[in-house]
Amino acid sequence: MLPPISDPNLLVNIETADDAGVFKLTDDIALVQTVDFFPPVVDDPYYYGQIVAANSLSDVYAMGGKPVTALNIVGFPKNKLSLDVLAEILRGGIDKAQEADCPIVGGHTIVDDELKFGLSVTGVVHPDRIITNANAQPGDKLILTKPLGMGILTTALKMGKVSEEIINKITSIMAELNKTAAELMVTFNAHAATDITGFGLLGHAHEIAHASNVSMLLNADSIPYLPEALEKIKEGGYIPGGSAENKKFLQDKVTFTDNIDEHEQMIFFDAQTSGGLLISISPEVVEEFLQSLHEKGVEHAAIIGEVTKSMKEEIRVER
Ligand code: CO
Ligand code: CO
Ligand code: CO
Repeated sequence: MLPPISDPNLLVNIETADDAGVFKLTDDIALVQTVDFFPPVVDDPYYYGQIVAANSLSDVYAMGGKPVTALNIVGFPKNKLSLDVLAEILRGGIDKAQEADCPIVGGHTIVDDELKFGLSVTGVVHPDRIITNANAQPGDKLILTKPLGMGILTTALKMGKVSEEIINKITSIMAELNKTAAELMVTFNAHAATDITGFGLLGHAHEIAHASNVSMLLNADSIPYLPEALEKIKEGGYIPGGSAENKKFLQDKVTFTDNIDEHEQMIFFDAQTSGGLLISISPEVVEEFLQSLHEKGVEHAAIIGEVTKSMKEEIRVER
């Protein structure tokens, strides 16, 4: 256990497993700070750079914040790769951060055996408008804004087992900013949100359920995922270590109805890179919110379930 940090201006700390720390500077401005980095998930260095940036920026969006500046973090195997590769990665990061109106103002590179790239992002949010994991309300509807299956499909990609078409599809999904979804959820006064990354849909849903002291009912048929991911699960051999660990960790927290088989269950445990937002929002505004998401290009967004009072089963996935 790490020692607890208490400071009256620390508005969101690690206790609620939130996406970023939030620190109040004045009555109107709080800092939102986060860092993330990981090895390549696609072969193209430019798109790897974009995906990394979209993923890091996402933690600020998930708090209802607006990214302001970012710093690069690079581990680079200079004996194995040409510096042109590094230039392409950084260019991808810069372009994606620019799309978010968030200049990259510096960074640091070390020599490393394995390539790694990440961003530390600083954002701002009004202290009264922070969207944490801890305020989901019974009766809320749950919205997921991107389809699942990236962990399985990027694992298959590394083994050379996916088509060019799938590579393009997952690349554009992972490189998509959560900016529009985040701005809309702030407008519609969402109660809680997180972005779906390494712990998968169910792991991050658990973080919200736990922090908010509620339970969730999810509808398997409405959860968006790429059908190719389910095909790869059925073929066998493409389940990433992180997804298998998620399943183990969540064993006593998640139940499924009998008509959801093990293959399909695995999609919901699958570790994502730069996944969508999971948003808990009042049932009174959810339809209008969903329509706005679709109109503004968040095409995969779907209502996937609802929040209930705390029950014995924290999360139940039904069909
Ligand atoms: Co996050
Ligand atoms: Co993160
Ligand atoms: Co959050």
